[in-house]
Amino acid sequence: MNKKVLGVLACTAVAASMVASASAEDLITVGYAQVGHESDWRTANTKNYEDVFSAENGYELSLIDCDNDNAAQLEAVRNFITQGLDYIIIAPIQSAGWDTVLQEAQDAGIPVIIADREIEADASMYDAWVGTNTKNEGITAGNWLAEQLDGAEAKILQIEGSVGASAAIGRTDGFAEVMADHSEWEMLDSQSGDFTQDGGQSVMESFIKSYEGQFNVVICQNDNEAYGAMDAMDAAGITYGVDGDVILISYDATHDGLQYTLDGKINCNVECNPIQAETVKGVIEKMEAGEEYEATTLVEDQAFCAPGIESEYATTMTDEILAGRAY
Ligand code: AHR
Repeated sequence: MNKKVLGVLACTAVAASMVASASAEDLITVGYAQVGHESDWRTANTKNYEDVFSAENGYELSLIDCDNDNAAQLEAVRNFITQGLDYIIIAPIQSAGWDTVLQEAQDAGIPVIIADREIEADASMYDAWVGTNTKNEGITAGNWLAEQLDGAEAKILQIEGSVGASAAIGRTDGFAEVMADHSEWEMLDSQSGDFTQDGGQSVMESFIKSYEGQFNVVICQNDNEAYGAMDAMDAAGITYGVDGDVILISYDATHDGLQYTLDGKINCNVECNPIQAETVKGVIEKMEAGEEYEATTLVEDQAFCAPGIESEYATTMTDEILAGRAY
């Protein structure tokens, strides 16, 4: 290769790197303090953020997997503040304990968007919230059960999500609200399975030891817990689903959860929609443009029930619905 061509290549390389660094500087920097990787729902939510907050879309995303560790999540947010990122998104592991770090973000002038779950802090402490109404999810599960039982007795075991997480608190409270109107229902026990398959399985195993033959409803506060509970019931020879002795209710309605619903193993699956990043991006775009933005945006959910079940509260599963579920 002659020197002239080399020189042109070198100039081209310098020009390309100048363009690259100029465009890197133009990217909007966003930190996402993600809960962890405890469930299929969470994996789908992480992928959604990585797809939406891409360099092609004008963003540089720092996504920190906090592994369900509250202290690690506070540290992640503090690191975002130290780095001076343009925006901070938090999916709170715990609903309580956010005031100090939110004040630090405010003092640094960094807008904060709370996503997915809720926090116990005054709305003036953060800039926007995007998420689902988990109390309504619990109410939907309760209404569906009441409709199906039609006055019959229920002996219920509940596997809750992570202690202190608003998704667990909301679903527990919403279901309890419906249950208060049903003296024929009894909550035999309610324990945390930490939103994981292993957690669901070990709680169900201990429930079986204490309550075998005494329960006819199992509620799992996410799909992964339901997979664990199904394994435990299979091992104990307990039948569940539309042809079983136990009604199984789950939350999330991720792809595999809906497959089990279509197969009649899960009777009712109440959706919690993990596809939220585009909505968060819309809020940030309005902030960037100095336009008014929604302080609160609710991501809509629905519920699904197994074939053969008709319900006012849930859509009966079909192959088409499952085929359309990408996560
Ligand atoms: O906050 C949403 C909940 O967190 C989902 O139901 C669960 O799967 C996840 O871990």
